[in-house]
Amino acid sequence: QNLTIIGAPIEEGAGRLGALMGPAALRTAGLVRTLEELGHAAEDRGDLHLPEILPNVPPVNGLAHHIEEIAAWSRMLAIETYNAMKSGSFPIILGGDHSLSIGSVGGIARYCEEQNRELFVLWLDAHSDFNTPATSPSGNMHGMPLALLCREPGLEGVFGDEPHGFVKPENLHLFGIRSIDSTERVLLRERGIDVVDMRQIDEFGVAPLLRRILERVQKANGVLHVSFDVDFIDPSIAPGVGTTVPGGATYREAHLVMEMLHDSGVVCSLDVVELNPFLDERGKSALLLVDLVASLFGRSVFGKPNRVDQGT
Ligand code: ARG
Ligand code: MN
Ligand code: MN
Ligand code: MN
Repeated sequence: QNLTIIGAPIEEGAGRLGALMGPAALRTAGLVRTLEELGHAAEDRGDLHLPEILPNVPPVNGLAHHIEEIAAWSRMLAIETYNAMKSGSFPIILGGDHSLSIGSVGGIARYCEEQNRELFVLWLDAHSDFNTPATSPSGNMHGMPLALLCREPGLEGVFGDEPHGFVKPENLHLFGIRSIDSTERVLLRERGIDVVDMRQIDEFGVAPLLRRILERVQKANGVLHVSFDVDFIDPSIAPGVGTTVPGGATYREAHLVMEMLHDSGVVCSLDVVELNPFLDERGKSALLLVDLVASLFGRSVFGKPNRVDQGT
């Protein structure tokens, strides 16, 4: 498979500094080499950089820190992922905080709309990231990408007239969630968003819960974007993230998720976000992420991966 690796050293969306070192740490941990060893043609495009002149974004109703910077990143990233998809490549965006998904998913959604492909999004995260400037308690835009992508009012100025697509709220699947703000919860309920929280994972395990989502994508002959927030994983094994929440996915659960995603054959694109090397312990979070990405790209314990041919 052709992979396009894009570094997005963005930290303006997070409440603390350091996520801008994420792409460098993932490369140091051997991400590109690992993907090549699995037989993929990985093209590392290096890191994108903010332009000197930021777009003008009209004032919003509420709090949205550094919205001009986020707007510039979003517009750039939407072009990059759109182009990668168009050239038949699988984009992997290395973050950087989670606000980058506005752009990465915005570009993929644009491509899917043009191609008439049904886009689904799997959001692996401790948080639901569905705040608007009006509901956000922090004003940090890494808590807002899904609200924007699902057409909640209040963030139209981020893309302005620049090309991008949207996500259908019914095609959004949140997974691993254990921290939702009270106003955010109201919005998620009103929109009927599918939230698989840790309570369900405890009771049923990740396999049946994820299988239900993957079967939905397969039946619709759709494609799946995976957005992987480091805080999806338990902080005891992945401490390198600014917004840790106890009780996250275990090592085994996280690998099983990635292996099932691989076997499904429906994943079209990936974000790896919120790695903060400044908070990591001797690179252990970065190394774990590389191993998890390897599972998503076909590494398996015993010989050949049993990829199910969906005939697509
Ligand atoms: N819900 C909180 C907020 O809006 C935390 C969001 C954390 N998001 C993340 N991508 N780590 O500020
Ligand atoms: Mn600023
Ligand atoms: Mn997140
Ligand atoms: Mn999170």
